[in-house]
Amino acid sequence: MWATAVGVAKVRALETGRENALFRDPLAQAFAAAGGLWPAPSPPPGDEAARRRRLGVAFSIVIRTKFLDDLLRRASASGIRQVVVLGAGMDSRAFRMDWPEGTRLFEVDTAAPLDFKASVVRQEGAAARCERIPVAVDLREDWPGALAAAGHDPTAPTVWIAEGLLIYLPEDAVELLLARIGAQSAAGSRMGLTLGLRGVIERFGADAAPGSAASMWVSEMPDDPVGWLAGHGWDAECHTLRERAAAYGRPMSTPPQGEERPGGLISAVRR
Ligand SMILES: C[S@@+](CC[C@H](N)C(=O)[O-])C[C@H]1O[C@@H](n2cnc3c(N)ncnc32)[C@H](O)[C@@H]1O
Repeated sequence: MWATAVGVAKVRALETGRENALFRDPLAQAFAAAGGLWPAPSPPPGDEAARRRRLGVAFSIVIRTKFLDDLLRRASASGIRQVVVLGAGMDSRAFRMDWPEGTRLFEVDTAAPLDFKASVVRQEGAAARCERIPVAVDLREDWPGALAAAGHDPTAPTVWIAEGLLIYLPEDAVELLLARIGAQSAAGSRMGLTLGLRGVIERFGADAAPGSAASMWVSEMPDDPVGWLAGHGWDAECHTLRERAAAYGRPMSTPPQGEERPGGLISAVRR
């Protein structure tokens, strides 16, 4: 399941090589190489639609990465010094972003990806630019307990990131995750989420290759994400990929199809 995290790293490595990259992730290539995805293998022969879908997923990963980088910078600027990355995978923000003095960044994922990551980080001699605390726990188990044991302080505000994660969790697990995040969030906490767009599972998952990321997608965003998050105690804003991509100078080449639905890039502040 965590192989998807290495696929994300491959996309970030490709972006890092672009002249006008929206972010630079110097560890991404090493993660992709250690996972057998670098040099990026040529895609299996397939139809044009499959190629477009792959490009679409890669594009969305690049835009969401930039979106969440910006959200984290704003959170730091607001004074937040606790960061929790849920389903961290090969997220290397602890290494590649500037953090104010005193920042503690918790990376929550299961042991296997965190061990893989640790070996690549060691091999690369990379040093975190904040206090980085990996927390090996399954998000279906008592992760708030594990987080607290690792030193997270729920009385101080936290910025939470769940990037490319919720789409893999069934709806009841998403609800439980949000309730638990809320219970650990002091007022002024912030949160960045990426949600699967309505219809994405049918469009991308139905004929996805077995074992591919899209074949594991199980949940999409609710019709009214702002209302849903308000019910969980958050003031949320939804952004679309199209709107963010244009704002970042990387406009989407495909024309909008009908009316744009609420977007799956969520920025939220705890009430
Ligand atoms: C698609 S990857 C995204 C990784 C990272 N957030 C990023 O964007 O680079 C999804 C990650 O969620 C983690 N994950 C999925 N289900 C999980 C669970 N039940 N407990 C802990 N981690 C989980 C996987 O191990 C994987 O690293």
